[in-house]
Amino acid sequence: MLRVGILVSGGGTNLQSIIDHVESGKITGVSLEVVISNNADAYALERAKNHNIPAFCVSPKNYATREEFNDALLAKLEEYRLDLIVLAGFLVVIPKKMVERYPMQIINIHPSLIPSFCGTGYYGLKVHEAALARGVKVSGATVHYVDDGTDTGPIIMQKAVEVQEGDTPEILQRRIMEQAEWKILPAAIQKIADEKNRA
Ligand code: GRF
Repeated sequence: MLRVGILVSGGGTNLQSIIDHVESGKITGVSLEVVISNNADAYALERAKNHNIPAFCVSPKNYATREEFNDALLAKLEEYRLDLIVLAGFLVVIPKKMVERYPMQIINIHPSLIPSFCGTGYYGLKVHEAALARGVKVSGATVHYVDDGTDTGPIIMQKAVEVQEGDTPEILQRRIMEQAEWKILPAAIQKIADEKNRA
């Protein structure tokens, strides 16, 4: 069984997709152990509680230094003996010591086809604004391992999505979530679970 922790910051639609896939049996061999947000108001925490998944807020605002926050986040994760940590819209920089503690055990969903429109400053709607400004005809989403860079780790899965005439950043974001993110993130988790169970 792959023990999974999910880090969130916002609405949690990617979290919800993972929960739905596990509960419906579309994903097997995976146990959702904990959801942690840096944002106490993240609706993603509500989604976790609605499905009886332990949910916590660990916010930098509650610690005197970033180092203390980093240590608190790591300590909370350690409690759950996780095999995989999923960043599902987590907007906090992952501390180097966390990447070192969980090598090739942290994955992230990014709403573009990396290496396009990624890296520092490319998050949320900014990604789609940049794609539309560049005039790309295809965008999409990427699941990748997290290393000590920003959106630079090995790519696991990608899915392309058509950009349509008249798209706004919000419309494109929604299409990429529906057609790509909510599909490839659960699929990537299943792939990793299968690899663990075969090992
Ligand atoms: C998604 O668009 C994801 O690609 C990005 O942040 C957003 C999270 O949305 N990393 P949600 O919280 O999963 O609804």
